[in-house]
Amino acid sequence: MIKKSIATILVVLMLGNLTNAQQNIPRPATPPMSWMTWNFFADNITESDIRDIADAMVSTGMLEAGYDHIIIDDGWQGGRDNKNNIIPDPKKFPSGIKALADYVHARGLKLGIYSDAAQLTCAGYTASLGFEDQDAKTFASWGIDYLKYDYCNAPADVEVAKERYKMMGDALKNSGRDITFGICEWGHLQPWLWGAEAGGHLWRTTDDVRDKWKRKDTDGGGEGILDILNKNLNLGKYAGKGKWNDMDMLVVGLYGKKGPSGDLGGVGCTDIEYQSQMSLWSIMSSPLTASNDIRNMNEETKRILMNKEVIAINQDALGNSALVTYQDEDILVLKKKLSGGDIALAILNKSDEKKMVDFDFTKLGLSGKYMIRDLWIFKDLSPSTKWKGDILAHETKLFKIKLAK
Ligand code: GAL
Repeated sequence: MIKKSIATILVVLMLGNLTNAQQNIPRPATPPMSWMTWNFFADNITESDIRDIADAMVSTGMLEAGYDHIIIDDGWQGGRDNKNNIIPDPKKFPSGIKALADYVHARGLKLGIYSDAAQLTCAGYTASLGFEDQDAKTFASWGIDYLKYDYCNAPADVEVAKERYKMMGDALKNSGRDITFGICEWGHLQPWLWGAEAGGHLWRTTDDVRDKWKRKDTDGGGEGILDILNKNLNLGKYAGKGKWNDMDMLVVGLYGKKGPSGDLGGVGCTDIEYQSQMSLWSIMSSPLTASNDIRNMNEETKRILMNKEVIAINQDALGNSALVTYQDEDILVLKKKLSGGDIALAILNKSDEKKMVDFDFTKLGLSGKYMIRDLWIFKDLSPSTKWKGDILAHETKLFKIKLAK
């Protein structure tokens, strides 16, 4: 009996140490890569849809390309049981979330879930305020790996936001499972300044991205790809390992689908614009969160979402984000320092016409000839001191450059 208690105490102590050690490692060390339910399904989600998506993540190569999370957004909740445990909607998830997590894990994927720092979520479902510890333990017991934590129905007061996020951040740390914590406060209260302290590993920096290039005066006011980019341009310095600026979902492949991304003027984008989003989100080190129907992707969408060289820029081990190197009314140049001394360079043509660009590397503080690889055509260009060429309207060129030997 005594021996058993001593053994138990030892195990508890060892586990305690392990948890502390894990807490010192910034997680996740590279921006999370996921597929998220919201833009495609809104709150009409079911376990069978998510199982199909899990299968498609494997069969399409999305998992192999690095998209290793499926995140269930708002709409899964079915209230609380008589012990106040949060439960899934029994019609949508008749087998329960644990069974779904097992299914997803068996395919090498992780499972994320959603809640909100108030009594009700944005779509009006049961949320976690006052039940942080209980819900975090429930999520852990189901095998959840990631929590997206929203801020609808909560006061627009930064002190309250810090407190509510920290309550859930602490609850996740004490849940007994390694759970990535995604703060979804839309950047209104500058979470890049306090999110890490609250236990967050990433934080949304903007309102929801809509499936469009940019906001128009007449279209209801939703944010397009360019608007989201502009809001993030000066936030790169706050990002790093385990503390990512989340520019919201990739709208790649949605093509104007009705639903959340189609509201407020989300009419769809061209493939050039989707490719720009992928380039820009990658160089800015935003989490990459696909939101299209990956069970039915055309070749262009696959080419854009699964470009491994572009993804490698996003996932670079240094964990830097891009900084603005040059900007005028039409052209934006972003630079990201990569491990091994290489540099990623994005040149965006914001204008509505094709532009000829002649970009000298001395503007990057570089001298000498550089090897330049165009990551969308997988081609090494001749070593040079500059890049010169045409860029289509709304196109982003993405290059990896290194000193020529
Ligand atoms: C919003 C959030 C969206 C989605 C939605 C669900 O606040 O920004 O990404 O999660 O709530 O209701």
